[in-house]
This record gives sequence, C-alpha cells and structure tokens, in this order.
Amino acid sequence: MCGIVGYIGKSQAAPILLDGLSKLEYRGYDSAGIAVYDGEHIRGQKSIGRLKALSELTHDGATMPGTAGIGHTRWATHGAPSNENAHPHFNEDETIAVVHNGIIENYLKLKKKLAEKEYHFVSDTDTEVVAHLLDYYYKGNPIEAITKVMHRVEGSYALGIMFREHPGIVYAVRKDSPLIVGHGKDGNLIASDVPAVLKYTRNVYFIQNEEIAVLSEDSITFYNVDGEEIQKESSAIDWDINAAEKAGYEHFMLKEMYEQPKTVRDTLNPRIRDGAVVIEELGMTDEEISQIRKIHIVACGSAYHTGVTAKYVFEGMARIPVEVDLASEFRYRNPILQEQDLVIIISQSGETADSLAALREAKRKGVKTLGIVNVVGSSIAREADKVMYTWAGPEIAVATTKAYSAQLVAEYLLAIKFAQVRGEITETEVRAYLKDLQKLPEQIEMLLSNKERIQHFANRYVSARDVFFVGRGIDYAISMEGSLKLKEISYIHSEAYAAGELKHGTISLIEEGTLVAAVLTQEDLYKKTISNIVELTSRGAFVLAVTNAGNTEIEKAADYVIYIPQTNRWFTNSLAIIPLQLFSYYVSVGRGCDVDKPRNLAKSVTVE
Ligand code: M6R
Repeated sequence: MCGIVGYIGKSQAAPILLDGLSKLEYRGYDSAGIAVYDGEHIRGQKSIGRLKALSELTHDGATMPGTAGIGHTRWATHGAPSNENAHPHFNEDETIAVVHNGIIENYLKLKKKLAEKEYHFVSDTDTEVVAHLLDYYYKGNPIEAITKVMHRVEGSYALGIMFREHPGIVYAVRKDSPLIVGHGKDGNLIASDVPAVLKYTRNVYFIQNEEIAVLSEDSITFYNVDGEEIQKESSAIDWDINAAEKAGYEHFMLKEMYEQPKTVRDTLNPRIRDGAVVIEELGMTDEEISQIRKIHIVACGSAYHTGVTAKYVFEGMARIPVEVDLASEFRYRNPILQEQDLVIIISQSGETADSLAALREAKRKGVKTLGIVNVVGSSIAREADKVMYTWAGPEIAVATTKAYSAQLVAEYLLAIKFAQVRGEITETEVRAYLKDLQKLPEQIEMLLSNKERIQHFANRYVSARDVFFVGRGIDYAISMEGSLKLKEISYIHSEAYAAGELKHGTISLIEEGTLVAAVLTQEDLYKKTISNIVELTSRGAFVLAVTNAGNTEIEKAADYVIYIPQTNRWFTNSLAIIPLQLFSYYVSVGRGCDVDKPRNLAKSVTVE
C-alpha cells in the first residue's frame, strides 16, 4: 500500500525523498509525488507510473531545491491513478501540503461540508479532504489544527504534513496505519517503513495511534491527541542494511527464497534448548496451555495458508480443536469465542487491516490473543496479548516466501510445546521432532540448489492458461500456497483443490495438456491422491508431482516428479513449498512479469 517519506535537515530533501520512496516501492503503487519547501513556497511534483518517471521529471530531485519535504507513493483507492489524485495534496493557496496512507471513511460527509464552505476540490481522493480541513482549522497553531482534524476524521491514516508558515518543521500523525520517525545525524525523517530511513539512521521511534510527531532539523517532539507533549523511547534497528537491498540477486523474491534456511534457523534456534521447546514470550503457564479448549487461527493470504497447515498439526499432534478463518470473514461473522480459547493472529507485516480488526474483535470478546508476527513493533505485535516473532528480517517482495517459512516453523514449535504440556507426546517424541526441525534449513538449501531443473520445467509453462494444484490434508494446504504464489506473480489463472473434491466439479476444467501440480507428502493419503492423479492424466492432464524421496512408484502415474527429502509428516510443507515457489518465480520471470511488485498488489494491505 502507499508509502510515505518525509525529511527535514541540512541536506537537500528531494533526493532523500526519492531514495526513501524507492525503498518503499515494494509496497505497491501506481503514482508518486513529492513536495519541498524552497525557501518561499511549498512546491509539488507528481507523476503517474513508476518512481523513475518522477526522478526523471525532477532530475533526481535537483529541480526541487530545499531542505524540508514530504513524499508519497500512491496505491489508488479513491480515484484512478492520475496526477490529480497523486499525493501530496494541498489546500487551495498551497500553504499546507499533505501525504496520506489509509482511508478517511467519512470523507464524503466532510467533503460536502467543506464544499458548503466554498472549498474546491481538484481530486477524487479522500486525502484532499484532510488538506482542506487542516486549512479550515489552522489559525496559526499547527498542532491545534492537526488535533482538531484528528477528532473529525474517521478511518485510518498516517499523515505527513507541512505548513508554509512553519517551514522548518515536518509534522506526522497516525491512526491504524504504520509510521515511524528516524533520528538522523544531519536531519530527521518520517516513513511508513524502516527500509526508507535505514541509509540515514538506525535510531527510530514507532509512532503509536493518535500520536503526533513534530520534526525539526535537530529535534523531535511528540504530542498526544489532546496536544499535550509526551515522551517516547527510541528503538535501535539491528538489521543489516543489505537486508533491504537485493545483494546481487535479480529479484528480492529470489533473494528471500535463498534466505529461507537462515530464517528457519533464526526462528527455531532461540526456542530450542536442551532438547525442549522454550517459548518465553508465550507467557502461558502449563495449566493455561492444558486448559485451552479451542484454537482459532486468523490470518490473510499466505499467512492463512500456514494457518491451514497448523490446523492439521495442532489437531494431529496436540489434539486441540482448531478453527482457521480468513481475517476478513472472522471479523464480521460474530465468532463464538470462549474464555479458554486462544486466538492466534498470523501476519508478516503486523499491519494487515483485516487481521488487526480480527485481533481487536477477539480482544473485545475477552479471549487470549497471540500474534505470530514478523515486523517488530507493528500494530498486531503491540496489540496482541503476547507476541511470538518470526525472525525473517525485512521481506520486500510482495510474494511472501521467507516469512511464510518462518511462520510455519513458529507454528510447529507451538504445536510441539502444547502437545507435550498436554501429555499427547513424550519427551522422546519431542526430541525426535526437534531433530527433524533442525534438519529443515539444510534440506531447504538442498532443494534450492536444485533450481535449474525447476527452472527448465517452468520455462515450458510460461504460456499456460490454467494451472491446478491438488493435494489432501497438509498437501492441500501446500497446494493453496503453491497456487497463490503462481497466480500472484505470473497472472496465470490457478486454483487449489482438495484432491478428493475434483470429481465434484473441477475435473470438468481439465483438458489435454492442462498442468496439474499434485502434492503427495502424507504417506497415509498417498495412494488416494495417486488415484486422483490417474483420473486427471486419463483426461489429458500433465501432472507434476511433488512427493517424498523414495516414493518412486509415482513415476508410473505422474509425468514429472520432484522429490523432497524425508522429514516428519507434520513438517513437509516447509520442504514441498520450495519447488513450488521456484516454479512460480521462474514462470513469472519467463513471462516478463514484475516479480517483486506484481500488478494491483501491495505488500502490506492496510485497508479493508
Ligand atoms: O502481512 P501479512 O502476513 O498479514 O499479509 C497477509 C497477506 O496479504 C499476504 O500473505 C499475501 O497473501 C502475500 N502477498 C502472498 O504472497
């Protein structure tokens, strides 16, 4: 979703804004703009399309002199991508400039009221309302105007604001949309995500809901919604700057796939001690774990897919009933939650609007909540009762790979812990599970090293029209993720089906040569899925099978086979997904798609 950057300091602002915005490109956008105070006026420049167009227009920022500015990459919600709708937005005499992430839900009502007061609008956006409303309330004191606006607008927002009458200051405010402040050596910055400021500082403040930050060249002050000054602690970001760079890989997605062994290790190792699972951050006593009546897993997209896998693992290993919900459904279906239930919200970004709303719904109903989150200090991490971090580091490609893998292993660890506490598995079994888990990084490396074979296969399918992914049990969950990976980055239509369900409709779509990826990692379901493969091949399907090493008889039924190393049945997703990720990646590259920033998609979906 949209990206925000702001700078005030000793250096020229425009090149810093453009550079910062380039670090936020992964979030997805369709236009970009910056505004810089030039010593007399706040000047804006906007451009639709890629940031490169804005850089060219401004000669890499050289045509926009000044040391204070705000910038934005817009992912269109209200109004088509156009220069008029691109940010920054201004009040009529261009003395106030605003960039905004989020959605002002009551903007139509506000727009009508402002129009009655002779305010004129030049865009279709909800954001322009904020610029005019600030103008309406501004009587010389920006904080007063900002707090009044905060009381009037409904919805979510992260705002960067400049007032011409206060040229040495950049203002920032947020509610339900992420925003950070970076404290740099020669100036201060705001941004919607850490990568945008990493080049200038590692010292950041996370702005919380309804807080205002006031940045000058050499000071940062915070206020609450009542305009009272508040104190905040800064945090040191310990990522290596390379973590947010491509480091020689052609795409972030490829780099992140190759980071999976490390991610899995980093998520596992701190939680395995002397042959036992230790999840200190869980903060639950053994008694509380024993009393869990039901687990509700709530998430979106790929995070939801890891939840589907976790359902099988929690139920199979720990014998705890699990319901898995898409967050966008859970939040509106008035779920039945009881005191002894546990709600687990899974999110890479920790900012997904539906997941955050689902978390709040669970908390409102008085149920214990646990966030499995990747981004430290994100909204879900802060608001969940407990948070278990996945240590994947920054994930830039829109298509998740390493965060997905980290989520899976975090869920396995929880399941083992719960199963042991509840007496469902013995200490010996725990040790065996942990041994298998610790082998995963090396096994993933091995699968990644086999990429040429998958690349070769993918090249044959760059023109595919439809691809189906099928499997049973955990293999169905793997298929869902395989299918999502393919469609989101290659734009090829693809569906995942429970293999036993094909006969109930989907099989009519199979034609001569239709590619079906079948996943068979669950030994007890293996023969059943083979029968489904035979049904498919006899109707002309070309079947790619992903199965465990040793299952060579599959070669009689499938057309192309990829073997994954042996692991415990609960952990096969971590291995089987690797060839499917590689397949999607190479199909996308072969089709010339924008692998890291697929059309219409955003990395962090902060609107409903
Ligand atoms: O940040 P989150 O984990 O909450 O995001 C959830 C989904 O938007 C995300 O997993 C999405 O499906 C990915 N782009 C898939 O690759």
